[in-house]
Amino acid sequence: MTHIRLILLLCFLLPRFHEILCNIDTDTDALLSFKSQVSDPTNALSSWSLHSNHCTWKGVTCSKLGNKVQSLTLPGLSLSGKLPPHLSNLTYLHSLDLSNNNFHGQIPKDLAHLSLLNVIQLSSNNLSGTLPPQLGHLHRLQVLDFSVNNLTGPIPPSFANLSSLENLSLATNGLEGEIPSELGNLRNLSFLQISANNFSGQFPTSIFNISSLVFLSVTENNLEGELPQNFGHVLPNLKNLHLASNMFEGIIPNSISNASHLQYIDLAHNKFHGSIPPFSNLKNLTHLILGNNFLSSTTLLNFQFFDSLRNSTQLQDLRIYENHLAGELPSSFANLSANLQHFCVSYNSLTGNIPQGMKKFENIISLSFENNFFTGELPSEIGALHNLQQLQVQNNRLSGEIPKMFGNFTNLYLLAIGNNQFSGIIHQSIGQCKRLTFLDLAMNRLGGTIPREIFQISGLRILNLEGNSLHGSLPPEVGTLKQLETMNISGNQLSGNIPKEMEACSMLKSLVMARNKFNGSIPTNFGKLASLETLDLSSNDLTGRIPESLEKLQYIHTLNLSFNHLEGEVPMKGLFMSLTKFDLRGNNNLCSPNKETAQKLGVLLCVGKKKRKILLPIVLAVVGATALSISTLFVFWTMMSREKKRKEGEISVLSTPLQGLPQNISYGDIRIATNNFAAENLLGKGGFGSVYMGVFSFSTGETATLAVKVLDLQQSKASKSFNAECEVLKNVRHRNLVKVITSCSSLDYNGEEFKALVMQFLPNGNLDENIHREDEKSGSFLTLMQRLNIAIDVASAVDYLHHDCDPPIVHCDLKPSNVLLDENMVARVTDFGLARFLSQNTSEKQSSTLGLKGSIGYIAPEYGQGGKTSTEGDVYSFGTLLLEMFTAKKPSDEMFKEGLSLNKFVSAMDENEVLKVADGRLINDFESWKQSSKCIVDVIKVGLCCTTDQPKKRWSMREASSKLQAIKHSMLAL
Ligand SMILES: *[C@@H]1O[C@H](CO)[C@@H](O)[C@H](O)[C@H]1NC(C)=O
Ligand SMILES: *[C@@H]1O[C@H](CO)[C@@H](O)[C@H](O)[C@H]1NC(C)=O
Ligand SMILES: *[C@@H]1O[C@H](CO)[C@@H](O)[C@H](O)[C@H]1NC(C)=O
Repeated sequence: MTHIRLILLLCFLLPRFHEILCNIDTDTDALLSFKSQVSDPTNALSSWSLHSNHCTWKGVTCSKLGNKVQSLTLPGLSLSGKLPPHLSNLTYLHSLDLSNNNFHGQIPKDLAHLSLLNVIQLSSNNLSGTLPPQLGHLHRLQVLDFSVNNLTGPIPPSFANLSSLENLSLATNGLEGEIPSELGNLRNLSFLQISANNFSGQFPTSIFNISSLVFLSVTENNLEGELPQNFGHVLPNLKNLHLASNMFEGIIPNSISNASHLQYIDLAHNKFHGSIPPFSNLKNLTHLILGNNFLSSTTLLNFQFFDSLRNSTQLQDLRIYENHLAGELPSSFANLSANLQHFCVSYNSLTGNIPQGMKKFENIISLSFENNFFTGELPSEIGALHNLQQLQVQNNRLSGEIPKMFGNFTNLYLLAIGNNQFSGIIHQSIGQCKRLTFLDLAMNRLGGTIPREIFQISGLRILNLEGNSLHGSLPPEVGTLKQLETMNISGNQLSGNIPKEMEACSMLKSLVMARNKFNGSIPTNFGKLASLETLDLSSNDLTGRIPESLEKLQYIHTLNLSFNHLEGEVPMKGLFMSLTKFDLRGNNNLCSPNKETAQKLGVLLCVGKKKRKILLPIVLAVVGATALSISTLFVFWTMMSREKKRKEGEISVLSTPLQGLPQNISYGDIRIATNNFAAENLLGKGGFGSVYMGVFSFSTGETATLAVKVLDLQQSKASKSFNAECEVLKNVRHRNLVKVITSCSSLDYNGEEFKALVMQFLPNGNLDENIHREDEKSGSFLTLMQRLNIAIDVASAVDYLHHDCDPPIVHCDLKPSNVLLDENMVARVTDFGLARFLSQNTSEKQSSTLGLKGSIGYIAPEYGQGGKTSTEGDVYSFGTLLLEMFTAKKPSDEMFKEGLSLNKFVSAMDENEVLKVADGRLINDFESWKQSSKCIVDVIKVGLCCTTDQPKKRWSMREASSKLQAIKHSMLAL
């Protein structure tokens, strides 16, 4: 201490010494103050004490003359606290490096006083606040690195005054705003790194004029802009160009090849378009990443492109995925560097064979050819690539046998060759791929048995063998797959018992074994698969009871045991309390003790526990009682206005898109979803095509079951029908119309046109099969109330098309098979293939582009005589549908003699006669015979009023709809 006092005294007495001596002191003071304000958990600054000269302290270097602190270098010492303002007392400081610590708070603007600073290194701290514009005064600054902090706000334009700046690093912060174009004045800048911020707006072209640039990275911002045409000439020194994940557009100028020092080019995830340019003579190029743009190519351009890379002998990584590349890959592919480690051309439209000449790529780690149109065989020389870790060729049209290539694949962890046309067997040598965690061989034509060797790959997590022709049994060794999370072996011809050893696969989340010939019972200990979320054993020959242990599966969201021969009582507890989670249909001997549950599940009521029907929810009864006290007219009015409100309110709900489903669904997606259009997935065939059930995987990882209507384009009218349907569906939304999720118009794998509509899947089938169901099991027929509700649903939908759409839409093909039922038996009208807009223009009104106006039996008589399309025509079809619903007789029924239509048959009789033709099962279906019969008679009257021969005398859809609602209300009110 006396030492300091002495110096202070000297300073006071001898001002001439001030410059030399007192600065020592100020620096010591400043450093000690710095130390006192910083938390130093590892005691890194223990050498900082007055026992020694501060120039000997850790991280401190001084000028030779006068012991002035010139640099403070303390990176990676876990120091924390705010940056002490005393730093700005170190007036001779040239270099400040406090990177990789935990400093927080703002950057002190007083640093701007340190006019000798060359280097400020504060990366990887937790600094916040904005960049102080004052730092722009530091004319000698060469390195300014604030990357990996939590800074916000813009880059101050004053930074353009940092005329000596060579390195500006601001990456990984929360900086935003536009990049000041003045930065183009930094003529000495060689390193500009501003990636992973929120910068937006046009990226200034002035920066592409800084010819000293060596490294430019602006990835992961929202920047717009184009690469200037002469770009490569202007930036001759550039080695690294990282523009990925922005919104850059335009073409990639050919001049890029003139930037001959380029080593790393990453333009992925932008909007570059135009043809893929040659990248000639980039001798030191190691990475060329152009994925996810709009680049296009042809066979010729592909040849030029690969040929241009011939001299890039250092190339390690070439990725051009998700572009619009077309044509074939040339043999010059084999001229690529032997140093290649990653090659990816997935998600393009490439055709032809996967080229030969791969043997030389002995350093290759990943090969990705998936989602293209490659044909031919998989080159067997791939087997020589012993460093290969990932091989993806799924979703192509490759054929032939899977080459015997597995022997060398000791590093392979991902093998995906699904959805091709591979035939032959799965060779047992696949067991040599000891590191495999992901194996996808699905949707091929593989036969034979599943080699036991697969089950010795103990790290396997995902196994997909779906949709092949595998037979034989599932060996008990499956129990050794302790890491297995997903196993899909559905759609094969596998048989035998489900091995009880599977209980050991405790990581299993998804087990799908549907559509095989497994028999025996479900292992009783399946409840031990505690992680299970999906269990699908549907469409097998399983027998026995549903094990009660399944009640314990608490994460399950899909349990499908439908279409087996299961029997006995359905468990009642645990997951079985949530009826929406499982599907037990098509098991004729299952039963539930609870009538409501039984009905919802489509299973029998267990015998011996019969209960009287409880017919009406109390809420509805109350509504009815209220209605009773009001005049009928008023009831009509309220119902109609309520109906209106309901419609308006629903639009927003219905228009919610399904999260994660791609907007433009491809042929390949549909092919996978429908299990290659498997017969088992066929829901029905109509005039213009077939409807399949499809299980789509969303990008969110979830799956959803949807219906896919595939147009049969062999029929010349089908395409028009598709357009008509798309046009209509674009314009309509109603709870009783089938929701269309998206459409697909593309080419199939044979290059043929392919059109499909992806729609909501309605699990309860169509009205036709529900009315005319063969089996007479109690509870399986539609009740009177259900039919009335369905009639009201259909009427509201058609009413909406006729009266709430502008221009009105005529469906033209109303019939029971075009009415689908959802899980709550709410009806939705589908098939708008014949529909048309009712234009005000009479000439158009008469044109009948499709020639056909409906289905035999439901067509209005005037159509047969060349009458024009009209809403009355739909009303006739609706009336016929109504009569059919309540008589359970088809208009084509044999008992209707020639010339006697269904409506004539009914109207010839009085009310008692009417009841004789009514569906006998309905008569006692409501609270009393009287109520049921009144309802039936009233509905049939509506049907008759809709089917009079003269179109003008028919009711409108609105009248029919209101009347049906009134019938329901009076029924509930009685
Ligand atoms: C050192 O810095 C502090 C804080 O900025 C200031 O209060 C003090 O006056 C400075 N000391 C000298 C000797 O400049
Ligand atoms: C970054 O700063 C924001 C406010 O500017 C703050 O909410 C956030 O917690 C900070 N993040 C970290 C990691 O310190
Ligand atoms: C390529 O790299 C080597 C070694 O680093 C260097 O000597 C050579 O100049 C570079 N060539 C070009 C064209 O950049």
